[in-house]
Formats: sequence, structure tokens, C-alpha cells
Amino acid sequence: VSSTQDHNKPFPECLIDQFQSSNADPSNVVYSPNNASYASLLLAPNLRPESTSPLRPLLIVTPYYEREIQAVIYCCKKLGTQIRVRSGGHDYEGLSYVSGIPFVILDMRNFRSVSINTNDKTAWVEVGTTLGQLYHTIARHSKTLAFTAGVCPTVGVGGHISGGGYGLMSRKHSIAADHIIDAKVMNADDHIVDRRSMGEDLFAIRGGGGTSFGIVLAFKLQLVTIPGTVTVFNVSRTLEQNATNLVHKWQYIADKIDRNLLLRLFLRSITSPIHGNRTIQATFNTLYLGRAHYLLPIMQEKFPELGLLPEDCIEMSWIESVLYFAGLRNEFVDILLSRIPTGVYSPVYFKGKSDYVIQPIPVGGLRGMWRFLHEEDENMAELQLSPYGGALNDYSESETPFAHRAGYIFMIHYAVSWTRPGNSESERRMNWIRRLYGYMAPYVSKNPTAAYFNYGDLDLGTNNEGNTSYAQASVWGLKYFGNNFNRLVRVKTKVDPSNFFRNEQSVPPLYVSA
Ligand code: FDA
Repeated sequence: VSSTQDHNKPFPECLIDQFQSSNADPSNVVYSPNNASYASLLLAPNLRPESTSPLRPLLIVTPYYEREIQAVIYCCKKLGTQIRVRSGGHDYEGLSYVSGIPFVILDMRNFRSVSINTNDKTAWVEVGTTLGQLYHTIARHSKTLAFTAGVCPTVGVGGHISGGGYGLMSRKHSIAADHIIDAKVMNADDHIVDRRSMGEDLFAIRGGGGTSFGIVLAFKLQLVTIPGTVTVFNVSRTLEQNATNLVHKWQYIADKIDRNLLLRLFLRSITSPIHGNRTIQATFNTLYLGRAHYLLPIMQEKFPELGLLPEDCIEMSWIESVLYFAGLRNEFVDILLSRIPTGVYSPVYFKGKSDYVIQPIPVGGLRGMWRFLHEEDENMAELQLSPYGGALNDYSESETPFAHRAGYIFMIHYAVSWTRPGNSESERRMNWIRRLYGYMAPYVSKNPTAAYFNYGDLDLGTNNEGNTSYAQASVWGLKYFGNNFNRLVRVKTKVDPSNFFRNEQSVPPLYVSA
């Protein structure tokens, strides 16, 4: 990268100069607002709640080569322009493509090669790969290998795996970040480092999010072994069918049951198809890593109240289960290669929040949750309860930044959606989810009230535009990372003391006052 002084040149000129000086071709890589593809590139797969800023990126850069990323870093540093790195664009608050100060988007969609080694059961995966593409590629190589990560196929590897990565095999194989065995990262000095050169600092991107520490280019992942046949079921019960007691009982078994079994639970308010009244529907959406005839006795012993029948169970391959849980059951497996969200993940405006439960919520508390769900229109609000325990507890709280281990029964994901931004409907729904979150406070973890980093929530607090103190950032940092936040601050202070990589909730470095 050229070292000419271009402080005063606007960003596009600086970048074009940099490209030319390294004989790189900016066409199909650098998009300005005048370019016909700019608007469609800007559009994120997951629409954010409300525009936090009317600013649009100065440029969108979709690199193919590392030297193109180095050119972007160079110009951002010279001109004080902020960089926002986007891999899959599913950030809950749009932090990969929105900023209140002049910025460029580094969109990693062209970094998407996957190479699988079936001998040592590993994969090198570039960050612009989607989970769907990763799962598809693994399945093409082997029927008994898989990877443990999230459910939505269009989520990007870059943000998801560096920030945790919970999925339907997490009780058996824990989260994605626990399976990072190496990585290629471009640091703030635009050098590429790997596990050997990063040493202990690799810790930071194993659940602490890439955002604060550098640009992750690729991960080396340890794959997991799976049976050739898995079993799924999706069984719903309404209040008239004993849903309250079932949900109450579920809390006592969900984290302790056989670790091959992950009984996810969705809660919504619906109009009963039988009685025509508004009721709560509890849907047990489940993956079992094995055949149905092993699953049924487990359910009979631990959760007979659900009344699971053999005909509720569907056997399939793991890759078919990926389609099943994405609501793409009748599609060909190649749909997993698409970057366009479909099925249950069609884009909406939405707000998500998270909580962790360490003591079962009493029946009275559950009834209060039902009242909140009834306040919202059908299909607009949903609670997702994701069980922990099993392999998640095999790691200590401090092994990776992801601190939510032994003692956590389940995570609650609150979500509300709407169709158009910036109107009274969106305001009302944002207000609803915040009130619900407040209502839940007595029933969830405290000191800190834990939250899941991958379900980023700016309500928990934000950085200042200038320096942010440790005390200020620890308000949300301790919620996301527990005491690991302190270690993340130390890594940040070492690898990026000038705070080049930052956003509204990035880990700040410790500032030493002069
Ligand atoms: P995006 O590109 O928006 O990046 C997210 C954050 O990471 C941003 O701050 C960005 O700057 C940073 N970043 C991205 N790439 C980087 C890189 N290469 N280097 C450094 N920083 C980088 N989670 C889960 O655990 N299980 C699940 O099942 C789901 N399901 C799900 C469904 C849907 C519809 C959505 C919208 C989200 C989820 N998630 C999830 C949450 C998801 O894990 C989270 O939003 C991830 O950050 C998304 O990663 P992307 O790369 O897609 O996002």
C-alpha cells in the first residue's frame, strides 16, 4: 500500500489511487452511490428496526483479494473514515451497514470459499460464506460430518461464528465459536495474523465478536460427527391443551435431558383454530441426533405430559433437517446456496432482545408473559426459548468470551416485527418489547442480567463518539461476556489501542490519560 500523504483527498479518490498503485481493478469491487448496483448492495437481508442515521456509506467495497482490504484500511485511517465490516448482514442493529459518521462498508460476500478436510474433520471457511453454504458443502463431502451453528441459512459466518453461534446441535456440540481452531485476521496495521501469530489473542474472536479486534478473513473449524439419520418433530399445544403446565415442566427438563435432544420452544399468541378465541400456542420444535425409536422412550420417561406420538416424529438426514428448521422442507438442498432469505426468514423490520433464565419461571410469571403476547397482533411477536446444558457446560465460563455456561437453563429471545419503518406502529412495537423485557426482570439472571452478543441490543447502552470509559462499556460488556469482558478489553488495548475497529457497542481500549 502506497504511503503517500492523502489526508485531504476524499475517500473515493484515495481508494482508487490505492487500487491503481497495487495494479488492482476497482470495477466490480468499489461501488459509489452513482453506481446502479449500490442500492441493491446496501439493502441488508435482515431489515433493521429503525434508521439510526440517515447517512449512507460513502462507498461499498466488495473485495476479492486481501490487498483490496488493505487499501480500504489505509484510506480509512488516513481520512478518519469509519469502516463497517459486513459478512452476512444479519446484525440485529444494522451495525455492519449503518453508522452516524462518514463510513464505508467492507462487504465480504466474495470471500466465500470453503475447503473441507474429511481426514482430520476440519474446514477452512471464508467469512462471506453463509451458514447454508457451509452446511451444503459439508454435506456434499460427508454424510456423517456437520457443523454446530445457527439455524438461519443466510446468516454469515463472519459475524455469527465470531460472536458465538447457537444452533440445534448446541446441547450435543456446544456453540460454533468453541470449534474455532485457527483463523486468518487482518489487524489494524493491515497485517494478516493467524493462531500462531495471535497466540492467546485468538480468544477474542472465539465469541467476543470480530468487530472490535480486526477483520476476520477465514476460520478453521473443527467439524462434528453426526449420525446418518436424525429425528425432528414440531408439536404445538394451546392453553386449552395444557400449554402453561407443559412450558412450566419443560423448564425442569430442557437443560438436563439427553444431550442428543434439543427441545426448542416457540411461544406466540394465535387465534385457536378449534375455539376461535385468542390463545397461546407453545410449539416444541425439536432435533434429536438419532432414530425415532430411541427418542420416543426418552420423551416418554422425561416428558410424558407432551404426549409425543410416533407419527409426530420424522426421520431424515441432518442436511434435510437444516431445510426443515428453516421452513424450506419442500425445497431442493441447493436453496441453501442462496443469500436471499426465504421461508421463515423472509425479511421484516424487527427488534430482538435476549435474556437468560437460571431459575424456572413460576406459573404466575408465565401467565404474565401470555398477557404480553396477547397485546400484540398475531404473527408479529414471538418468544423463542433455547435450552442450554449438555455440551455448553463442558466449557468453563472463562474458556471463551461466551460466558453463559453451567447454571443457565435456557435463553429467551424476544422478537417483534412490523411492516413499515418510522411510524406509530413501529414505535408501539418497540415500546411493547421494552415493556416485556422490563416485566421479565424478576425472572431472569441478575448482576449482570446476561444477554447474548449475537442478539445485539443497543438498548443496553452505547459507546460515545469519542472515548468510552471501561465503566461505561462494562454496562453492556459484562452482560454479553461476564468477567471475560475484562480480558477482551486487555486484548483490545493491545491489538487496537487507537480504536480503529469500533462501532456503537465495540469493546473499547483502556485509555491512559496523559
Ligand atoms: P453482519 O455481517 O451484519 O455482522 C455482524 C457483526 O459482526 C457486525 O458488527 C459486523 O461488523 C461484524 N462482522 C461481520 N463480519 C466480520 C468480519 N469478517 N470480521 C470482523 N467483524 C465482522 N444467532 C444464533 O446464534 N443462532 C441462530 O440460529 C441465529 N439465527 C438468526 C436468524 C436471523 C434471521 C437473524 C437476523 C439473526 C440470527 N442470529 C442467530 C444472529 C446472528 O448470529 C448474528 O446476527 C450475527 O452477527 C450475524 O452475522 P452476519 O455475518 O450475518 O452479520
